[in-house]
Amino acid sequence: MVVQLVLRMGNIKSAVSLLLLAVLHLLAIAVFVVARPATFDDDFRVTWEDSHIQQIQGGTAIKLVLDQSSGCGFASKHQYLFGRVSMKIKLIPGDSAGTVTAFYMNSDTDTIRDELDFEFLGNRTGQPYTVQTNVYAHGKGDREQRINLWFDPAIDFHNYTIEWNHFRVLFSIDDVPIREYKNNERIGVPFPKFQPMGVYSTLWEADDWATRGGLEKINWSKAPFYAYYKDFDIEGCQAPGAERCAANPNNWWEGAAYRQLDAVQARKYKWVRMNHMIYDYCTDKSRYPVTPPECMAGI
Ligand SMILES: *[C@@H]1O[C@H](CO)[C@@H](O)[C@H](O)[C@H]1NC(C)=O
Repeated sequence: MVVQLVLRMGNIKSAVSLLLLAVLHLLAIAVFVVARPATFDDDFRVTWEDSHIQQIQGGTAIKLVLDQSSGCGFASKHQYLFGRVSMKIKLIPGDSAGTVTAFYMNSDTDTIRDELDFEFLGNRTGQPYTVQTNVYAHGKGDREQRINLWFDPAIDFHNYTIEWNHFRVLFSIDDVPIREYKNNERIGVPFPKFQPMGVYSTLWEADDWATRGGLEKINWSKAPFYAYYKDFDIEGCQAPGAERCAANPNNWWEGAAYRQLDAVQARKYKWVRMNHMIYDYCTDKSRYPVTPPECMAGI
């Protein structure tokens, strides 16, 4: 009886140590396989007000500051043609009315600007943030859509992604597609495909228009305002020389899975449009008496 027990304990002990060894082994492998997380300095530079962008967590995250003296902004060091850009953002909590946080891509070409925008419009405490997206192609924008969110974007980090290939531009939040701008060149709608774009972000005051159309003013007694960014991820064809890379049909972002929404994505997209969309230029008859061609159903 006693002998049996000791034997069993011995078995358990050796099983435990085997397991431990296996875990240690895996950990050792992991150390070599897992890449160093991208730091802010790897891909970005401050473009506006050094003193208002603080690197934290070893440079893998940043804190943006807005106060009465200034807002701030940063930009990617390179431009990219097609690919995917994503970052995790935690927006200003509480009374953020009058503030705008933006995450966007821009070709930096004045006349034939291409631009893909995420803009987060703050609100009074307890009132929902608005997320505005816009698409400029070959100099033409005015394609605003607005949604409110199904979560409070100031409590936790959420992932905001722009995917861009020859077939479409897709804006997503945490794997929920919120906007798809398809390549409709065959019916004469411009599509951004010739110019590489930089990745930008800014935090600034825009209380002349941002919240309830400018009715709600910024409350400076709540300043400074903070927004946090981390997990910067850019994959794409880097300029100069981006055109050659972008022509390669084997780039992963050109693959079948990235050309159109799958069934699960399509269901989520429909849900967002039915339950969270608050403005769509496509249905704004006062601005567009003639519906823009890219808005026609089934396109
Ligand atoms: C702010 O909250 C009001 C009231 O709920 C809402 O109408 C508005 O769309 C919200 N967002 C902005 C940016 O004004």
